Amino acid sequence: MTQFAPLALLAALAMATACTSAGGAAGPSVADAQGAADADLSAHGATVPEPYTSMQNPYGYADPSLANLGAGLYTQHCNHCHGSQGSGDGTRAKGRIPVVSDLNAANLEHQDNYWFWRIHQGGKAFQSAMPAFAEVLTDDEIWRIITYCRWHFSNF
Ligand code: HEC
Repeated sequence: MTQFAPLALLAALAMATACTSAGGAAGPSVADAQGAADADLSAHGATVPEPYTSMQNPYGYADPSLANLGAGLYTQHCNHCHGSQGSGDGTRAKGRIPVVSDLNAANLEHQDNYWFWRIHQGGKAFQSAMPAFAEVLTDDEIWRIITYCRWHFSNF
């Protein structure tokens, strides 16, 4: 049996490491929040599910005159968490774990289908405070908001 001792030790070490990184929920701190944010990013590597996979913004991004289409809707529904610059620092963002996403980063990382899915279904699958807007906003309103975010936050 002794020959298995190193393996058992390795397993114990692996579990201890896993526990440490999962500790974010116990006591929020900057480090914990960062840990949760990192965990988030890997969760967000998730494949966009049906029926969202082939969705594309019907407004496109060729016409700058459409840039403000969703401005009022963004202010009304998103600003208090994601902030006026999209950086995740709205008045109701503080202390949330997982932390409120920076939409500038989301612009660079994700395509329209991912955006639509996340706004439509919210953060339930990620144990987050991101609300599901499926019952609150029409599909058209969601695309207007996405158009606004795409034009006003980091270019993608
Ligand atoms: C109550 C706070 C809150 C409100 C209101 C809110 N969000 Fe979020 N949102 C979050 C949190 C927290 C996350 C990060 C966790 C997650 O992905 O679920 C997030 C994540 C996201 C993501 C995924 C980002 C990524 O990189 O994966 C998008 C896109 C997004 N929000 C857009 C919006 C838009 C657009 C609105 C308005 C229609 C909105 N959110 C309203 C809290 C909020």
